[in-house]
Amino acid sequence: MKAVLLGATTGMGRAIARLLAARGDQLFLLGLDDADLDRSAADLCARHPSHASVGHAVCDLEDPDTFASALDRADAALGGFDAVIVTAAMYATQDALEADTELARRLVTVNYANTVVFCEHARKRLLARGGGKLVVFSSVAGERGRKPVAIYGSSKAGISAYLEALDHKFHGQGLEVLCVKPGFVRTGMTAGLKAPPFAGEPEDVARTVVAAMDRGEAVVYAPRVWSAVMLAIRSLPRAVMRRINF
Ligand SMILES: NC(=O)c1ccc[n+]([C@@H]2O[C@H](COP(=O)([O-])OP(=O)(O)OC[C@H]3O[C@@H](n4cnc5c(N)ncnc54)[C@H](OP(=O)(O)O)[C@@H]3O)[C@@H](O)[C@H]2O)c1
Repeated sequence: MKAVLLGATTGMGRAIARLLAARGDQLFLLGLDDADLDRSAADLCARHPSHASVGHAVCDLEDPDTFASALDRADAALGGFDAVIVTAAMYATQDALEADTELARRLVTVNYANTVVFCEHARKRLLARGGGKLVVFSSVAGERGRKPVAIYGSSKAGISAYLEALDHKFHGQGLEVLCVKPGFVRTGMTAGLKAPPFAGEPEDVARTVVAAMDRGEAVVYAPRVWSAVMLAIRSLPRAVMRRINF
């Protein structure tokens, strides 16, 4: 596979990059900070000496002007990519987002509107060569309107709906869209938050996601137990949702 990863300098993206590099896939890293990208690329090469080099380019989800040129650089370096994996996103607590409307605007723009724009650039390039894989991290937070994640969760609900529609529209043309719905996973994003039951580790999530990619699944919960948890949450009546704090 020739994969472009947006957000692979940390957390679950980094774990996926390490797994793909270990099995010999060719990678190109996109992210916010050139020095971080350089370090991550060097780390992948050091762990897997068969990778002579891992290219990288700056791509800021707050700046759509960076999207096309970053994907073009990835395309040129890899000689045509066949997978794009987006783990990059913003997170802030509901309290922080309610207290700072500008932060809320930035978060919903990055996690929904600009992620859709980035995916549009990516899927056009993939479809132009007959298809490929588009893997994007949403969240269980987007499954149901919930008090503790009202704003962050709404951005993930939007991205989940977009990915579902992409799958419906372009699967027949060779585009394999995978919407990843993690539950709570211990990464920098959740540092300082109280871990609930079934909290996962990035390396386990990476194995689940890569297996789902290989099987051509359209949706994967990670850890997979969250599929059953969210089935129960989706069935709760509104009157119950108003009372509980989940
Ligand atoms: N951890 C969880 O419990 C959990 C649960 C459900 C869903 N998710 C989702 O899973 C994905 C991966 O999260 P993670 O837990 O692995 O967290 P993470 O390690 O914090 O990864 C998020 C990545 O997004 C990057 N990023 C932030 N703003 C960006 C921007 N404007 N442009 C480009 N990159 C940007 C960050 O780069 P910098 O480090 O340079 O800021 C970081 O590499 C996210 O989509 C998250 O919403 C996480």
